[in-house]
Amino acid sequence: GLPRRVTIYEVGPRDGLQNEKTVLPAEVKAEFVARLARAGLTTIEATSFVHPKWVPQLADAEEVLQRMDRVPGVRYPVLVPNERGLDRALGLGVTDIAIFGSATETFAQRNLNRSVEGSIAMFTPVVERARANGLAVRAYLSMCFGDPWEGPVPIEQVVRNGRRLLDLGCAQLSLGDTIGVGTPGHVTALLRAFADAGVGPERLAVHFHDTYGQALVNTLAALRCGVTVVDASAGGIGGCPYAKSATGNLATEDLVWMLSGLGVRTGVDLASLVETSAWLAALLGRPSPSRVVQALAGE
Ligand code: HMG
Ligand code: MG
Repeated sequence: GLPRRVTIYEVGPRDGLQNEKTVLPAEVKAEFVARLARAGLTTIEATSFVHPKWVPQLADAEEVLQRMDRVPGVRYPVLVPNERGLDRALGLGVTDIAIFGSATETFAQRNLNRSVEGSIAMFTPVVERARANGLAVRAYLSMCFGDPWEGPVPIEQVVRNGRRLLDLGCAQLSLGDTIGVGTPGHVTALLRAFADAGVGPERLAVHFHDTYGQALVNTLAALRCGVTVVDASAGGIGGCPYAKSATGNLATEDLVWMLSGLGVRTGVDLASLVETSAWLAALLGRPSPSRVVQALAGE
Protein backbone atom coordinates (compact mmCIF):
# COMPACT_ATOMS: atom_id res chain seq x y z
CA GLY A 1 0.00 0.00 0.00
CA LEU A 2 0.86 3.67 -0.21
CA PRO A 3 0.61 6.39 2.44
CA ARG A 4 -2.38 8.76 2.16
CA ARG A 5 -0.21 11.76 2.72
CA VAL A 6 3.48 12.54 2.09
CA THR A 7 5.47 15.37 3.64
CA ILE A 8 7.75 16.95 1.10
CA TYR A 9 10.98 18.21 2.67
CA GLU A 10 11.95 20.95 0.22
CA VAL A 11 15.72 21.41 -0.19
CA GLY A 12 15.88 23.78 -3.19
CA PRO A 13 17.13 26.86 -1.31
CA ARG A 14 19.91 24.75 0.27
CA ASP A 15 20.84 21.65 -1.78
CA GLY A 16 19.66 23.37 -4.95
CA LEU A 17 21.35 26.74 -4.64
CA GLN A 18 24.56 25.40 -3.03
CA ASN A 19 25.61 23.94 -6.37
CA GLU A 20 24.42 26.54 -8.86
CA LYS A 21 27.09 28.65 -10.56
CA THR A 22 24.97 31.75 -10.29
CA VAL A 23 25.01 33.17 -6.78
CA LEU A 24 21.71 34.88 -6.02
CA PRO A 25 21.38 37.88 -3.67
CA ALA A 26 20.04 37.10 -0.17
CA GLU A 27 16.89 39.05 -0.98
CA VAL A 28 16.09 36.74 -3.91
CA LYS A 29 16.81 33.65 -1.80
CA ALA A 30 14.38 34.90 0.84
CA GLU A 31 11.81 35.51 -1.88
CA PHE A 32 12.37 31.95 -3.21
CA VAL A 33 11.66 30.56 0.29
CA ALA A 34 8.53 32.72 0.58
CA ARG A 35 7.22 31.55 -2.79
CA LEU A 36 7.78 27.91 -1.81
CA ALA A 37 5.72 28.43 1.34
CA ARG A 38 3.00 30.09 -0.74
CA ALA A 39 2.95 27.02 -3.01
CA GLY A 40 2.07 24.96 0.07
CA LEU A 41 5.40 23.47 1.12
CA THR A 42 5.57 23.10 4.90
CA THR A 43 9.23 22.15 5.39
CA ILE A 44 11.73 24.31 3.54
CA GLU A 45 15.45 23.93 4.16
CA ALA A 46 16.53 27.53 3.95
CA THR A 47 20.34 27.61 3.93
CA SER A 48 23.56 26.23 5.50
CA PHE A 49 25.78 27.43 8.31
CA VAL A 50 28.90 25.81 6.85
CA HIS A 51 32.28 27.37 6.17
CA PRO A 52 31.75 30.17 3.61
CA LYS A 53 34.88 29.12 1.71
CA TRP A 54 33.50 25.59 1.31
CA VAL A 55 30.12 26.74 -0.02
CA PRO A 56 30.37 30.38 -1.14
CA GLN A 57 26.86 30.19 -2.65
CA LEU A 58 25.39 30.13 0.88
CA ALA A 59 27.86 32.44 2.62
CA ASP A 60 25.00 34.89 3.28
CA ALA A 61 23.07 32.47 5.57
CA GLU A 62 22.58 35.08 8.33
CA GLU A 63 21.20 37.64 5.91
CA VAL A 64 18.83 35.14 4.29
CA LEU A 65 17.36 34.24 7.69
CA GLN A 66 17.03 37.90 8.66
CA ARG A 67 15.17 38.68 5.44
CA MET A 68 12.89 35.64 5.51
CA ASP A 69 9.20 36.08 6.29
CA ARG A 70 8.13 33.04 8.29
CA VAL A 71 4.70 31.55 7.78
CA PRO A 72 3.23 30.02 10.96
CA GLY A 73 3.17 26.23 10.70
CA VAL A 74 6.04 26.12 8.19
CA ARG A 75 9.44 24.82 9.35
CA TYR A 76 12.65 26.26 8.00
CA PRO A 77 15.54 23.91 8.88
CA VAL A 78 19.17 24.86 8.21
CA LEU A 79 22.31 22.72 7.80
CA VAL A 80 24.73 22.90 10.72
CA PRO A 81 27.92 20.80 10.72
CA ASN A 82 29.65 21.96 13.90
CA GLU A 83 29.44 24.16 17.00
CA ARG A 84 30.63 27.21 15.09
CA GLY A 85 27.71 26.71 12.71
CA LEU A 86 25.31 26.29 15.63
CA ASP A 87 26.58 29.49 17.27
CA ARG A 88 25.86 31.32 14.02
CA ALA A 89 22.36 29.85 13.72
CA LEU A 90 21.20 30.34 17.31
CA GLY A 91 19.60 33.68 17.94
CA LEU A 92 18.29 33.97 14.38
CA GLY A 93 15.00 32.25 15.17
CA VAL A 94 16.13 28.82 13.96
CA THR A 95 13.98 25.97 15.33
CA ASP A 96 15.18 23.07 13.18
CA ILE A 97 18.69 22.05 12.17
CA ALA A 98 20.21 19.20 10.20
CA ILE A 99 23.60 17.61 10.67
CA PHE A 100 25.08 15.67 7.75
CA GLY A 101 27.20 12.56 8.06
CA SER A 102 28.59 10.09 5.56
CA ALA A 103 28.24 6.36 5.05
CA THR A 104 31.78 6.26 3.61
CA GLU A 105 35.21 7.37 4.85
CA THR A 106 36.22 9.06 1.60
CA PHE A 107 33.19 11.33 1.47
CA ALA A 108 33.49 12.15 5.19
CA GLN A 109 37.02 13.40 4.45
CA ARG A 110 36.01 15.31 1.31
CA ASN A 111 32.85 16.89 2.71
CA LEU A 112 33.70 17.39 6.38
CA ASN A 113 37.51 17.21 6.49
CA ARG A 114 37.27 14.36 9.02
CA SER A 115 36.91 10.59 9.33
CA VAL A 116 33.47 9.12 10.05
CA GLU A 117 34.57 8.82 13.70
CA GLY A 118 35.83 12.41 13.72
CA SER A 119 32.58 13.67 12.25
CA ILE A 120 30.52 11.90 14.92
CA ALA A 121 32.73 13.62 17.51
CA MET A 122 32.04 16.94 15.78
CA PHE A 123 28.25 16.35 15.71
CA THR A 124 27.89 15.13 19.30
CA PRO A 125 28.00 18.54 21.05
CA VAL A 126 25.97 20.11 18.21
CA VAL A 127 23.07 17.72 18.75
CA GLU A 128 23.32 18.01 22.54
CA ARG A 129 23.33 21.79 22.55
CA ALA A 130 20.67 22.06 19.86
CA ARG A 131 18.31 19.81 21.80
CA ALA A 132 19.04 21.62 25.04
CA ASN A 133 17.95 24.79 23.21
CA GLY A 134 14.70 23.11 22.13
CA LEU A 135 15.62 22.64 18.47
CA ALA A 136 14.55 19.65 16.37
CA VAL A 137 17.48 17.83 14.78
CA ARG A 138 17.51 15.83 11.56
CA ALA A 139 20.49 13.85 10.33
CA TYR A 140 21.46 13.22 6.74
CA LEU A 141 23.53 10.25 5.72
CA SER A 142 25.26 10.65 2.36
CA MET A 143 26.48 7.97 -0.08
CA CYS A 144 23.94 5.37 1.04
CA PHE A 145 23.96 3.55 -2.31
CA GLY A 146 27.26 4.25 -4.02
CA ASP A 147 30.26 6.50 -3.57
CA PRO A 148 32.17 8.02 -6.53
CA TRP A 149 35.52 7.01 -5.01
CA GLU A 150 34.67 3.79 -3.16
CA GLY A 151 32.02 2.30 -5.48
CA PRO A 152 29.04 0.37 -4.11
CA VAL A 153 28.49 0.85 -0.37
CA PRO A 154 27.65 -2.25 1.72
CA ILE A 155 24.18 -2.09 3.28
CA GLU A 156 25.50 -3.10 6.76
CA GLN A 157 27.90 -0.15 6.69
CA VAL A 158 25.07 2.26 5.81
CA VAL A 159 22.84 0.93 8.59
CA ARG A 160 25.69 1.06 11.14
CA ASN A 161 26.60 4.67 10.32
CA GLY A 162 22.94 5.72 10.11
CA ARG A 163 22.18 4.27 13.53
CA ARG A 164 25.12 6.14 15.03
CA LEU A 165 23.61 9.43 13.86
CA LEU A 166 20.15 8.55 15.21
CA ASP A 167 21.72 7.46 18.51
CA LEU A 168 23.09 10.99 18.95
CA GLY A 169 19.47 12.05 19.46
CA CYS A 170 18.34 12.98 15.97
CA ALA A 171 14.61 12.65 15.31
CA GLN A 172 14.91 11.71 11.66
CA LEU A 173 17.50 10.19 9.34
CA SER A 174 17.44 11.15 5.66
CA LEU A 175 19.06 8.52 3.45
CA GLY A 176 20.98 10.25 0.68
CA ASP A 177 21.66 8.82 -2.74
CA THR A 178 24.13 11.65 -3.27
CA ILE A 179 25.20 10.55 -6.77
CA GLY A 180 21.89 9.04 -7.88
CA VAL A 181 23.11 5.50 -8.62
CA GLY A 182 20.47 3.63 -6.57
CA THR A 183 17.71 1.48 -8.07
CA PRO A 184 14.40 0.38 -6.50
CA GLY A 185 15.47 -3.11 -5.40
CA HIS A 186 18.43 -1.58 -3.57
CA VAL A 187 16.13 0.96 -1.89
CA THR A 188 13.83 -1.80 -0.66
CA ALA A 189 16.76 -3.89 0.61
CA LEU A 190 18.22 -0.91 2.49
CA LEU A 191 14.91 0.03 4.13
CA ARG A 192 14.35 -3.61 5.16
CA ALA A 193 17.83 -3.74 6.68
CA PHE A 194 17.07 -0.59 8.70
CA ALA A 195 13.78 -2.09 9.87
CA ASP A 196 15.61 -5.29 10.89
CA ALA A 197 18.02 -3.13 12.90
CA GLY A 198 15.09 -1.51 14.76
CA VAL A 199 14.81 1.66 12.66
CA GLY A 200 11.34 1.77 11.13
CA PRO A 201 10.27 3.92 8.16
CA GLU A 202 8.61 6.48 10.46
CA ARG A 203 12.11 7.64 11.48
CA LEU A 204 13.46 7.74 7.93
CA ALA A 205 13.30 10.09 4.97
CA VAL A 206 14.67 9.55 1.47
CA HIS A 207 16.86 11.96 -0.44
CA PHE A 208 17.35 11.02 -4.06
CA HIS A 209 19.45 12.77 -6.67
CA ASP A 210 18.28 12.18 -10.22
CA THR A 211 21.62 11.60 -11.97
CA TYR A 212 20.55 8.31 -13.54
CA GLY A 213 16.84 9.16 -13.83
CA GLN A 214 15.92 6.78 -10.98
CA ALA A 215 14.78 9.27 -8.35
CA LEU A 216 11.02 8.90 -8.90
CA VAL A 217 10.95 5.14 -9.14
CA ASN A 218 13.19 4.92 -6.07
CA THR A 219 10.77 7.19 -4.24
CA LEU A 220 7.87 4.91 -5.12
CA ALA A 221 9.82 1.93 -3.75
CA ALA A 222 10.45 3.83 -0.51
CA LEU A 223 6.76 4.80 -0.15
CA ARG A 224 5.80 1.15 -0.53
CA CYS A 225 8.13 0.39 2.41
CA GLY A 226 6.27 2.93 4.56
CA VAL A 227 8.42 6.06 4.22
CA THR A 228 6.32 9.26 4.29
CA VAL A 229 8.94 12.02 4.17
CA VAL A 230 10.54 12.69 0.79
CA ASP A 231 13.24 15.28 0.04
CA ALA A 232 13.00 17.17 -3.25
CA SER A 233 14.23 20.40 -4.79
CA ALA A 234 11.99 22.79 -6.71
CA GLY A 235 12.80 22.64 -10.41
CA GLY A 236 15.34 19.87 -9.77
CA ILE A 237 18.14 22.39 -9.30
CA GLY A 238 21.42 21.67 -7.54
CA GLY A 239 23.74 18.83 -6.57
CA CYS A 240 26.69 18.54 -4.18
CA PRO A 241 29.90 20.48 -4.79
CA TYR A 242 31.99 17.88 -2.95
CA ALA A 243 30.74 14.80 -4.81
CA LYS A 244 31.75 14.54 -8.45
CA SER A 245 28.90 13.47 -10.76
CA ALA A 246 26.14 14.55 -8.36
CA THR A 247 23.31 16.31 -10.22
CA GLY A 248 20.18 17.90 -8.88
CA ASN A 249 17.72 16.33 -6.49
CA LEU A 250 14.47 14.76 -7.47
CA ALA A 251 12.44 17.73 -8.73
CA THR A 252 9.57 18.68 -6.41
CA GLU A 253 7.27 19.14 -9.41
CA ASP A 254 8.01 15.61 -10.70
CA LEU A 255 7.25 14.25 -7.24
CA VAL A 256 4.01 16.22 -6.90
CA TRP A 257 2.87 15.10 -10.36
CA MET A 258 3.40 11.43 -9.49
CA LEU A 259 1.85 11.67 -6.03
CA SER A 260 -1.22 13.55 -7.22
CA GLY A 261 -1.75 10.87 -9.89
CA LEU A 262 -1.55 8.25 -7.16
CA GLY A 263 -4.03 10.11 -4.98
CA VAL A 264 -1.40 10.81 -2.29
CA ARG A 265 -1.88 14.22 -0.70
CA THR A 266 0.99 16.72 -0.38
CA GLY A 267 -0.78 20.06 0.07
CA VAL A 268 1.34 21.55 -2.73
CA ASP A 269 -0.14 23.63 -5.54
CA LEU A 270 1.66 22.43 -8.67
CA ALA A 271 0.91 25.45 -10.87
CA SER A 272 2.24 27.85 -8.28
CA LEU A 273 5.38 25.76 -7.80
CA VAL A 274 6.05 25.56 -11.55
CA GLU A 275 5.72 29.32 -11.78
CA THR A 276 8.33 29.69 -9.03
CA SER A 277 10.75 27.30 -10.72
CA ALA A 278 10.34 29.10 -14.04
CA TRP A 279 11.02 32.42 -12.27
CA LEU A 280 14.12 30.94 -10.61
CA ALA A 281 15.40 29.32 -13.82
CA ALA A 282 15.36 32.73 -15.50
CA LEU A 283 17.42 34.17 -12.63
CA LEU A 284 19.86 31.23 -12.70
CA GLY A 285 20.19 31.58 -16.46
CA ARG A 286 19.46 27.96 -17.26
CA PRO A 287 16.31 25.96 -17.97
CA SER A 288 14.91 23.85 -15.15
CA PRO A 289 15.98 20.21 -15.52
CA SER A 290 12.54 19.07 -14.28
CA ARG A 291 10.51 17.34 -17.00
CA VAL A 292 7.26 18.46 -15.36
CA VAL A 293 8.42 22.10 -15.27
CA GLN A 294 9.43 21.82 -18.94
CA ALA A 295 6.04 20.35 -19.83
CA LEU A 296 3.97 22.85 -17.86
CA ALA A 297 5.95 26.09 -18.00
CA GLY A 298 5.06 26.49 -21.70
CA GLU A 299 8.21 27.67 -23.50
P1 HMG B 1 37.51 22.59 8.84
O1 HMG B 1 38.38 23.40 7.96
O2 HMG B 1 37.97 21.22 9.27
O3 HMG B 1 37.07 23.45 10.10
O4 HMG B 1 36.11 22.43 8.09
P2 HMG B 1 37.79 23.74 11.46
O5 HMG B 1 36.88 23.33 12.55
O6 HMG B 1 39.20 23.17 11.43
O7 HMG B 1 37.89 25.34 11.46
C1 HMG B 1 38.71 26.06 10.56
C2 HMG B 1 38.26 27.51 10.47
O8 HMG B 1 36.97 27.57 9.89
C3 HMG B 1 38.12 28.23 11.81
O9 HMG B 1 38.44 29.59 11.58
C4 HMG B 1 36.66 28.13 12.11
O10 HMG B 1 36.15 29.15 12.95
C5 HMG B 1 36.05 28.25 10.74
P3 HMG B 1 39.84 30.19 12.06
O11 HMG B 1 39.88 29.94 13.53
O12 HMG B 1 40.87 29.39 11.30
O13 HMG B 1 39.73 31.62 11.62
N1 HMG B 1 34.77 27.56 10.69
C6 HMG B 1 33.59 28.11 10.32
N2 HMG B 1 33.25 29.34 9.89
C7 HMG B 1 31.93 29.56 9.62
N3 HMG B 1 30.98 28.63 9.77
C8 HMG B 1 31.28 27.39 10.18
C9 HMG B 1 32.64 27.10 10.47
N4 HMG B 1 33.26 25.98 10.91
C10 HMG B 1 34.54 26.27 11.03
N5 HMG B 1 30.31 26.47 10.33
C11 HMG B 1 33.73 22.11 8.10
C12 HMG B 1 35.05 21.68 8.66
C13 HMG B 1 32.68 21.12 8.54
C14 HMG B 1 33.39 23.51 8.63
C15 HMG B 1 33.85 22.17 6.55
O14 HMG B 1 34.30 20.93 6.12
C16 HMG B 1 32.55 22.50 5.87
O15 HMG B 1 32.07 23.63 5.96
N6 HMG B 1 31.96 21.53 5.16
C17 HMG B 1 30.65 21.72 4.54
C18 HMG B 1 30.58 21.04 3.21
C19 HMG B 1 29.19 21.20 2.67
O16 HMG B 1 28.46 22.13 3.02
N7 HMG B 1 28.79 20.29 1.77
C20 HMG B 1 27.47 20.33 1.16
C21 HMG B 1 26.39 19.92 2.12
S1 HMG B 1 26.27 18.15 2.30
C22 HMG B 1 25.26 17.64 0.99
O17 HMG B 1 24.98 18.39 0.12
C23 HMG B 1 24.70 16.24 1.00
C24 HMG B 1 23.22 16.19 1.38
O18 HMG B 1 22.45 16.94 0.46
C25 HMG B 1 22.72 14.74 1.39
C26 HMG B 1 23.12 13.95 0.13
O19 HMG B 1 22.79 14.37 -0.98
O20 HMG B 1 23.76 12.93 0.34
C27 HMG B 1 22.98 16.79 2.76
MG1 MG C 1 21.83 16.22 -1.50
